[in-house]
Amino acid sequence: MPPIKVAVLPGDGIGPEIMEASLPVIAKAAAGAKLALDFQHGLVGGAAYDATGHPLPPATLKLCDSAAAIYFGSVGGPKYDKIPDPNLRPERGALLPLRKRYTLYANVRPAIVYKGLEKRSAIKESIVTGMDLLVIRELVGGAYFGKKALTKSHAYDVIDYDAKQIDRVLDFAFKAALGRQKRLTLVHKANVLLTSVLWKQRWDVIRKKYPKVAVDDCYVDAFTMYLISRPASFDVMVTENMMGDILTDEAAQVTGSIGLIPSASLGAKKTKWGTFGLYEPSHGSAPDIAGKGIANPLATILSGAMMLRYSFGAEKAAVKVEAAVRKVLAQGLRTRDLAGPKDKALSTHAMGQAVLKAL
Ligand code: IPM
Ligand code: MG
Repeated sequence: MPPIKVAVLPGDGIGPEIMEASLPVIAKAAAGAKLALDFQHGLVGGAAYDATGHPLPPATLKLCDSAAAIYFGSVGGPKYDKIPDPNLRPERGALLPLRKRYTLYANVRPAIVYKGLEKRSAIKESIVTGMDLLVIRELVGGAYFGKKALTKSHAYDVIDYDAKQIDRVLDFAFKAALGRQKRLTLVHKANVLLTSVLWKQRWDVIRKKYPKVAVDDCYVDAFTMYLISRPASFDVMVTENMMGDILTDEAAQVTGSIGLIPSASLGAKKTKWGTFGLYEPSHGSAPDIAGKGIANPLATILSGAMMLRYSFGAEKAAVKVEAAVRKVLAQGLRTRDLAGPKDKALSTHAMGQAVLKAL
């Protein structure tokens, strides 16, 4: 078998460090599944802007077009917030266009409270214990991609959805629920937003195809409360783009550390090995700790596990990586973000090596 080409885009801030710590783990897990990965690095975000004047240069697009998956670090930072043209800032100029280019409509973000880390959450241990929520966020529609305008006295961002966009992500969510505890919650705001009314109507149609899945639905404002009062009671949740953006940060915080939350962004494009996808940690570029070698690489490693699962069909290899992460956490190994003030903390590199060893 020829090696599988992976576009590796470390990006800005802690991106290069967490990527460096993760690649050996993913390469080893792939090798165990008899897959050879060909990691090809590309420039993205502020790093690309500095080098080429654009956060998503043509060479990077060419690399991504020809790859089976994109392994993404993080982009952005204070320096780049000052770029006058907002379309050249890393988030709007690189990340959103990549999601759009490959129609990566399903963003998958697991929020798990790991054994031994229950006390990390700001919420009582008894409430967060057992939390294992899978959030499916629609990623290429809604306010982030609708019609926009800004003048000195007026602005709008149109939330725009059609039935096809809703149906495909609902189907994805139902299938995900079938592979888990078979419970799915739709989060919406159908008492106010007409787009949510359409989501609810499509939900009532699509759910008939999945009689084995127990469903409920909930207003987004109420859901923000339930996520804090009973986070362990949910299995899979599906929602539109902006609500999903906000709720995944909340869910991450409830688990205790955003440094542990991976993500996969998937669409319709298939390759020889599986579904084309973009894999990135759910956290940002953390400019405050960049270059210090203290960032937590586990979200990036877990994103790599999702890449093995969805893009390369290597479920067993993915499970092994996830088990290795659980093992190092159970052994008490911690990076700075997870360690207590008096505890010894591992460097980014050492954490990557610990996972490699556990693997
Ligand atoms: C995320 C991020 C992005 C988003 C930003 C960086 C554009 O917050 O992936 O959740 O809003 O989607
Ligand atoms: Mg976000």
